[in-house]
Amino acid sequence: DAAASVPVRRLSDWDAAELRTLVDEYGSPLYVLDLDRVGENYRRLEAAFPDADVMYAVKANALDDVLAALLECGAGLECASAGEVQRALEAGASGADVHYTAVNPPDRDLDWVVDAWAAHPALTVTAGSADTIDRLADRGYDGRLCLRVNPGIGAGHHEKVRTGAAAKFGVPAERAVDVLADAADRGFDVVGIHAHVGSGVSSDQLDAHREFVARMGDLARDVNEALRASNGRTGSEAADGLEFVDVGGGFGVPYREDEAPLDLESVAAATRDALGAVDARLTIEPGRYFVADAGVLLTDVNTVKDARETTVVGVDAGMTTLIRPAMYDAYHPIRNLTADGDAAAGGADGREIVPQTVAGPICESGDVFCTDRELPRSERGDLLAIGNAGAYGYEMATQYNSRPRPASVVLEDGDVRLARRRETVDDVTRVQREAGTVSPTDR
Ligand code: LLP
Repeated sequence: DAAASVPVRRLSDWDAAELRTLVDEYGSPLYVLDLDRVGENYRRLEAAFPDADVMYAVKANALDDVLAALLECGAGLECASAGEVQRALEAGASGADVHYTAVNPPDRDLDWVVDAWAAHPALTVTAGSADTIDRLADRGYDGRLCLRVNPGIGAGHHEKVRTGAAAKFGVPAERAVDVLADAADRGFDVVGIHAHVGSGVSSDQLDAHREFVARMGDLARDVNEALRASNGRTGSEAADGLEFVDVGGGFGVPYREDEAPLDLESVAAATRDALGAVDARLTIEPGRYFVADAGVLLTDVNTVKDARETTVVGVDAGMTTLIRPAMYDAYHPIRNLTADGDAAAGGADGREIVPQTVAGPICESGDVFCTDRELPRSERGDLLAIGNAGAYGYEMATQYNSRPRPASVVLEDGDVRLARRRETVDDVTRVQREAGTVSPTDR
């Protein structure tokens, strides 16, 4: 498959003229998502993990078109909330496509999901504590149950996303066998174990990945043994062992122009090797890998000023549009689409390359996309593109400073369509005007 061999997509690969046309038509700031690239990314993963079940972590980008495209490819959907489960079902998922990963789940999430389970009995709930299992039982749920475990090993691009080492997630691995044997005795259909080591795992963290997966393999063998013993005792036919071991997602993508991509083949080989022989299927559920390089954020330059030590370039997108630089000091590539010249040849339309600080309109000093980055000297009216914005971009956008969220367009097979309109200030204030119109406890 030619698509599977397209190794990486850089910001410089996007067609500047096409992106400028989009902003002329839909305004700025604008999220652009290339669905064809999402499909390519699916095929790249599938080619590297031919014997695994591939799911998509919806939280990275929950746009309906993305969910529909990935379902069409054959992906399942990992959902972090009842809202994501609802959106997965609305995008055409069957119950069997859906895993709901319940992290300290609010009552109204459990109520909604257990209701949905009546209509979609093949959905799977992943519980991260014994309390969640009790609360499911209280609601009459005895369907497919997976247990999230805490492996005690984290990896990832920032402290805030090394979930595998964070106490809030999962049942400590050493208690997992007891919790699952008990759940099986209580009539749950125990189908899996799950953990997620962290997000944005790079090639130099593969040792942590390997150690994490090895623990999951050991645990799976212990759980299988315990479940089979327990079923022998109770005569339960529910589960005669695990159906799957879900090792989460986390595969990093290159954000810096010169960063090498992960070698997926060797990650897959390391995963198989570390897991060892397990009588269960392997499941992976990346998010970022599918969508990061399929998206760009376009933003107009409205201000250029010489500050003391740098040139500040004011743009109309900010930390409310794309929060990753402010929240994780994340690097995103930036390209001036107006001063582009021949980008492939490193051209800058004759403009001088100078250090610039690209800053948004939000009243916080952290509202910058980069500090002192070498870019062709910006001018008011230029259009900038911020790369790798397809993952955790719009999804983490807020209305802080009463700033409406931007529009999103999708590209597919040479067509462009508006997937989500730009919000207005009216959208921001609607919930005040409608304060009395819905029950205060409604979901
Ligand atoms: N599965 C579970 C249970 C997760 O918690 C996550 C991400 C994933 C899968 C997908 O991880 P991925 O393949 O996308 O790395 N907002 C942060 C990322 C937070 C990810 C949290 N969990 C960022 O922008 O870097």
